[in-house]
Amino acid sequence: MDVLVVDHPLAKDRLSTMRDARTDSATFRAALHDLTVMLMYEATRDAPVRTERIHTPVARTDAYRLANPPLLVPVLRAGLGMADQAHKLIPAAQMGFVGLARDEQTLHPTPYMESLPEDLAGRPVLVLDPMLATGGSMVHTIRLLTDRGATDVTAICALAAPEGIARLEDSGLPVRVVTASIDQRLNDSGFIVPGLGDAGDRQYGAI
Ligand code: PRP
Repeated sequence: MDVLVVDHPLAKDRLSTMRDARTDSATFRAALHDLTVMLMYEATRDAPVRTERIHTPVARTDAYRLANPPLLVPVLRAGLGMADQAHKLIPAAQMGFVGLARDEQTLHPTPYMESLPEDLAGRPVLVLDPMLATGGSMVHTIRLLTDRGATDVTAICALAAPEGIARLEDSGLPVRVVTASIDQRLNDSGFIVPGLGDAGDRQYGAI
């Protein structure tokens, strides 16, 4: 499984802002927006393009467009904080939604919403979730996608735990991961260490 760690100074800066416990919600959301743009750039680096001829005010030239715009799938709640930025970068993308809440005791994801196109054969899919912890939420989401025929899935995560990466790898699902950091480990409560806490709570408040 391909794992790309976006090790860019600006990505490190925004992730550090997100990690800092003193960062308020508005600043956290702004940092996640910026980081999403950086992760999206790298995730789409090899996306196929089609060419067309256009006129600039001066001459004819080639123009380049994404040949096959992806489906974007934010995982609610926390992934919502990445959705608008990703969509701005790829306005032609369609958006699907998956709602999952991780049970705090069992750490298993409880699904409460899914809104996805029926047929995903031949379409790249970018799953947006700030956190890959145990990997349970991501495995559940990718199975929903592969059940609909997806074979080209990229998980875009602000940060990841080694346990989550290993879980995805063991699943054999057709996924690659783009993240700004692979942290040290999970703690006994299933939180990434050092991590950034709960990305949903940090953006929207605890429920
Ligand atoms: C968090 C996070 C991921 C999931 C990661 O969401 O945003 O979706 O947990 O954990 P996992 O890899 O162990 O499954 P949470 O369930 O807390 O919901 P929220 O986004 O509504 O806060």
